Amino acid sequence: MAIQPGKFITLEGVDGAGKSTHLDYLADKIRARGIELIVTREPGGTPLGEKLRALLLNDPMQPDTELMLMYAARAEHVAALIKPALTRGAWVLSDRFSDASYAYQCGGRGIDATRLKALEAWTLADFGPDLTLLFDVAPEVAESRRAQARTADRFEQEQAAFFARVRAAYLERAKAEPGRIRVIDASHGIEPIRAELDRIMEGL
Ligand code: TYD
Repeated sequence: MAIQPGKFITLEGVDGAGKSTHLDYLADKIRARGIELIVTREPGGTPLGEKLRALLLNDPMQPDTELMLMYAARAEHVAALIKPALTRGAWVLSDRFSDASYAYQCGGRGIDATRLKALEAWTLADFGPDLTLLFDVAPEVAESRRAQARTADRFEQEQAAFFARVRAAYLERAKAEPGRIRVIDASHGIEPIRAELDRIMEGL
């Protein structure tokens, strides 16, 4: 019998939207079905990717450098971890993927989307998530959640206007791909969001 390829699910949202809170819940739900699940993150996910993450989150750099390092880490992540897992039938849940580059590097930093598309065509071809959950909240809510977080990295130190652009770019992307990207109103409490995640998972 042919092995059914696994599903690739990504979680997205501005810093402070609360996606990390829901990641464990989703992972437990998937594993409860007896499915092998790989939980990973971007930037990161491989030994090399984690080194690139440390640079990306801490070292000052040009926006184009940032975009290319994100895609260098992603190329490694896809080839070394994500595709092999999906091929053997495992599911992969990633805390961020290329929609984050569109939102942060194009929306936030203002890089033209044609550059991102060129990198995507090169490193991903037509590979991408089967489902993306976009946790969306009002900027003030995200900001107050960020204020409670431990030391802020390079992205978390950005100003409100940066996050407003990131959010707008995420929502634009969701509008362009409504079949793949599900927008979740993350200003609700944890329980209603879990109920929504349950409904989404039933359809998978
Ligand atoms: P994040 O996922 O928020 O992790 P943590 O919860 O540990 O802070 O941090 C990753 C940061 O990297 C986040 O601020 C967004 C940024 N990022 C990009 O700018 N572009 C990308 O392509 C990716 C994957 C992340």
